[in-house]
Amino acid sequence: MILSFFVAFITTMHTSHKILITNDNSPTLQNPITLETYHSMNGAMIEAQHVYYDAGTAWHLAKSPKPLLHLLEVGFGTGLNAMLTMSRLTQLGVRCHYAALEPFPIAMHCIADYSSQLTAAYPDISKTLLTQLHSTDLEIPIHEGHTLSKHRVLLENFHPSQTFDVIYMDAFSPSTQPELWEPEILQNLAAMLAPGGHLVTYCSKGSVRRGFAAAGLEIERLQGPPGKREMLRARKPFLFSEGL
Ligand SMILES: C[S@@+](CC[C@H](N)C(=O)[O-])C[C@H]1O[C@@H](n2cnc3c(N)ncnc32)[C@H](O)[C@@H]1O
Repeated sequence: MILSFFVAFITTMHTSHKILITNDNSPTLQNPITLETYHSMNGAMIEAQHVYYDAGTAWHLAKSPKPLLHLLEVGFGTGLNAMLTMSRLTQLGVRCHYAALEPFPIAMHCIADYSSQLTAAYPDISKTLLTQLHSTDLEIPIHEGHTLSKHRVLLENFHPSQTFDVIYMDAFSPSTQPELWEPEILQNLAAMLAPGGHLVTYCSKGSVRRGFAAAGLEIERLQGPPGKREMLRARKPFLFSEGL
């Protein structure tokens, strides 16, 4: 809890995050207090593609094709997952409403440096899209029929009236922010999934698996991204019994 307070304090004070280059040349940020990085050091871009887009959004669309997808990301951070997902969905001609929780937005000067490094390594990435994603907290139309609504709210206090087709659970790890991986929080996340919806996370810890299973989700352990043996995908069955 005390550690969580410092994570929040440092981020809110806009103390400089350090930019690190990961193994696939994409940058990530490091929290100056916990030293936890926003992405895997084995490849930030590969992680975003493998854990969130491929195992989450692409998998969901393969199972339930639809022209409009409702997505939720816990921990918007640098916007890498959002940017990659929107770019891929544009190629498929699928629109999305992307909701993202970020109680501690990164300072714009830091995002500007991060974006420069990212686009230097990946010239196909639109710097305009990245800037757009960070430009406001309000619901904003993004190109190609996508909308983004950022919520400056803690996951613990987020109680949406709608459900989501796909949830990206990308909070800091249970060792840094254990309160975000408690059974009640996992149960709330399960309740936010639409029937047939999928939640993906890099975290495959036993207590997290059991928490999602206890909340009535079907759990799959998948091959993780480079450097990580496993990741999790959870599906909400159509006949859902909450908190089995
Ligand atoms: C691992 S990083 C997310 C990386 C991000 N998905 C990206 O692509 O850059 C975790 C994020 O969770 C945010 N966070 C911290 N406490 C939170 C809370 N209580 N609820 C929601 N998000 C939180 C942090 O500010 C941080 O941006």
